[in-house]
Amino acid sequence: MIRSKIAGIGRYVPEQVVTNHDLTKLMDTSDEWIQERTGIKERRYAKKHEETTTTMGTRAAEIAIERAGIQKEDVDFIIFATLSPDYYFPGCGVLLQRELGITKTEIGALDIRNQCSGFIYGLSIADQFIKTGIYKNILLVGSEMHSMGLEFSTKGRNVTVIFGDGAGAVVLQPTEKEDQGILTTHLHSDGTHAEQLAMISPGSHGGYHLGKENFGFPDVEYGELFIYPNLIDNNSYYPNMDGQLVFKNAVQKFPEVINEALQKTGLQASDIDMLVPHQANLRISQFIQGKLGLRDDQVWNNIQKYGNTTAASIPIALCEAWEAGKIKEGDLVCLAAFGSGFTWGSALIRW
Ligand code: UT7
Repeated sequence: MIRSKIAGIGRYVPEQVVTNHDLTKLMDTSDEWIQERTGIKERRYAKKHEETTTTMGTRAAEIAIERAGIQKEDVDFIIFATLSPDYYFPGCGVLLQRELGITKTEIGALDIRNQCSGFIYGLSIADQFIKTGIYKNILLVGSEMHSMGLEFSTKGRNVTVIFGDGAGAVVLQPTEKEDQGILTTHLHSDGTHAEQLAMISPGSHGGYHLGKENFGFPDVEYGELFIYPNLIDNNSYYPNMDGQLVFKNAVQKFPEVINEALQKTGLQASDIDMLVPHQANLRISQFIQGKLGLRDDQVWNNIQKYGNTTAASIPIALCEAWEAGKIKEGDLVCLAAFGSGFTWGSALIRW
């Protein structure tokens, strides 16, 4: 039976460090509040005009490709997960292809959204293509440049202090080894609370999902729906989040979807050598750890240094754990995510 394995992994975080103290100059917040509620001490911001979601993804991809021992031209499919793309369209997949200098046109490039779960959704898609023998070298990238569109004021502080920029990438290849590779992936969604963690404009919604009266959406002409006259005034082009609702759902869904993967494979939580949760909030990770009864050395957290990098958070953390020698051949690695949509998912990998 063919399985998919992670043959190479890379990460890139921009140089510029932004501390909690730096943010206190822009909004009414404090290092104490941010650390106590989220665990975050600092995050990275990309260099304006020089770095983008695609360029950061490209840096991470180059490392993953080199570590996989392949050439760029060997990549036969690209999957790019982000909520902060360079352009509205086309997506970052083709921009990454160009940035990498892959000139062959036999390959495909797929852009996926799925926000915090983007990497796990991408992993699951790649896994299906590899298992069915369609592709041999899939490049999966998660990259975010949140700093491009956060609300740097007290009004936006509950969202802005959490997010950071960065990228991670993996190369997936087939393996026929008996006990190696992706054992299972599980994907879920529930659109009930789509607007509770969202950036709703620009878009085609025209006020529809929120009820025109409540939203105060102007009666505009075609062509003005996308960038409408009071877009700037109502700030709907900034991400908004009902933090408590997201938190409540996250602490329920994370353990649920991890247990689903364990049940499917007949494994126990105690079999997990390394859990790499999406880095949403250190308190969420600690809750999952407690619920599953895992020791500190069985969970990788790096939100303290990078904040929440959404689609990039799992591959950055996975790469760091691997670079630190904490993930070795034969280890059982568990990935799990929950976020905007809501969407959530898990994966179990025998490294
Ligand atoms: O990856 C995407 C998924 N996202 C998540 O998983 C995030 C889940 N949610 C969370 O992590 C938490 O809800 C937050 C960290 C976002 C917020 O923590 P919280 O303990 O839920 O705080 P809260 O929203 O209930 O706000 C408590 C207080 C409020 O003030 P009042 O009304 O009690 O006076 C907020 O206005 O804290 C205030 N506040 C802040 N104060 C200082 C909100 N943001 C800040 C801030 N600095 N940055």
